[in-house]
Amino acid sequence: MERTTTIIPQEDIQAQLAHCQAVAQLTAQWPERPLAFVDTYGCQQNEADSERLRGYLEQMGFGFTQDEEQARVIVINTCAIREHAEQRVLGNAGALVHVKRRHPEQLICLCGCMVQQPQTAQKIRESYRHVDLVFGPHALWKFPEMVHALLTHRGRRFSIEDEAGSIAEGIPVVRQDSVKAWVSIMYGCNNFCAYCIVPYVRGRERSRRPEDILAEIRQLADEGYKDITLLGQNVNSYGKDLEEPMDFADLLERINEIPGEFLIRFMTSHPKDATQKLFETMARCEKVAPALHLPFQAGNDRVLKVMNRRHTRAQYLEKIQALKALIPDIVLTSDIIVGFPGETTQEFEDTLKVLEEVRFDALFTFIFSPRKGTPAAAMDDPMSREEKLQNFNRLTALQDSISEEKHRAYVGKTLRCLVDGRSDDPRWPLTARTPGNRLVRIAGGDAAPGQFRDARITGANKWSLFGELV
Ligand code: SAH
Ligand code: SF4
Ligand code: F3S
Repeated sequence: MERTTTIIPQEDIQAQLAHCQAVAQLTAQWPERPLAFVDTYGCQQNEADSERLRGYLEQMGFGFTQDEEQARVIVINTCAIREHAEQRVLGNAGALVHVKRRHPEQLICLCGCMVQQPQTAQKIRESYRHVDLVFGPHALWKFPEMVHALLTHRGRRFSIEDEAGSIAEGIPVVRQDSVKAWVSIMYGCNNFCAYCIVPYVRGRERSRRPEDILAEIRQLADEGYKDITLLGQNVNSYGKDLEEPMDFADLLERINEIPGEFLIRFMTSHPKDATQKLFETMARCEKVAPALHLPFQAGNDRVLKVMNRRHTRAQYLEKIQALKALIPDIVLTSDIIVGFPGETTQEFEDTLKVLEEVRFDALFTFIFSPRKGTPAAAMDDPMSREEKLQNFNRLTALQDSISEEKHRAYVGKTLRCLVDGRSDDPRWPLTARTPGNRLVRIAGGDAAPGQFRDARITGANKWSLFGELV
């Protein structure tokens, strides 16, 4: 099969690193080491992108801050998934006009999914004149060149060309955590669910070469990372564009062979592409965490069809059953949209039935938000906001009771958990994660983040578990 994905040539990445060096020579002459503030909205994919922006910034001689008053460069990595996400970004970006008045040399950059939408880029062009640089996900790999140009000739730059998208290897990374790491295995999405903006702003599905992914994970394992999450909008369709055929289950198998004690997680999986082979591979590979995030969005077949999800409720439930038969203690999570255009309250109740049948450990629930340019934004949407909110509250109340019950069933069990952080609460100074990624607050005990330790679960509520090290 011919590979259709564009891979950025290594010379072009080298040229970007040369721009980093040129900027580093400039910043070395400044009286103090300059600081950058990278503020991230949206999903883990954006977190992973921000780690690359930080990698480039570090090569340019920047340190990091969370204080916009201290920052010479501010980068806001934006999300477009719901209107609320956009409004938060626009509010914060707007407020920077005052900060920049106090620090006129400041460089303000907006990047990510939101600005890849032409109408939003236009709004920033016209009404956010203090923003110097705007670039979408496709142009991220050219960040050094853009910063270099702006530091040497003032002006504004916009790089938001619409394209299918490419893959850039070899961009430096500054990771946010020393225990958990994100690894993008593919980019973009081909599914065009009727409500979703992602395919329009992130381009078509494209897979990184397995050898690049395996090399990155080998290095993470050597550096002591213990919890590695593979990222993609639809990881189950990994490999379809590769020269040598390899599917997601094969990739998991290969990662599982890498020496070291670490857990492999992945997200997101699309139900239409979740296969029996994937479930069997999960069950067999000891490093693959017993957890699956499998969004079903709605429980009614008519609604699923209009959403263009290309699976039915029965197919979804069958897959869950097959998976539970192989991995009885599997931790299941899902995304749900309430109030999709035309969904009646009766149809919504089919969603509640799926909750009762599957008994998810946790859910991510959203009220439908129309995204300009998607088919759903043009659909008739007669239900009132109040009725959608009522349905939404019924959904969260039901899930809260299920989560609480599921959590209570852990009490008395001892599980091998990954200590992943410290907390300020003196009663529970450590946090840890079960293999299925449920949060455990640990009382007393001595352990360092990054250690796998047996923890006895002593209590639970709807959000988390409580325990002690044994
Ligand atoms: N690729 C992932 C989802 C990415 S977006 C998948 O297919 O599962 C994360 C979640 O945001 C989606 O699963 C959906 O539940 C929600 N979402 C996406 N678009 C939305 C919209 N327009 N309104 C409300 N929720 C939305
Ligand atoms: Fe959006 Fe659907 Fe693609 Fe997920 S699979 S990113 S919901 S279009
Ligand atoms: Fe948001 Fe883009 Fe992720 S729209 S959810 S940041 S892919």
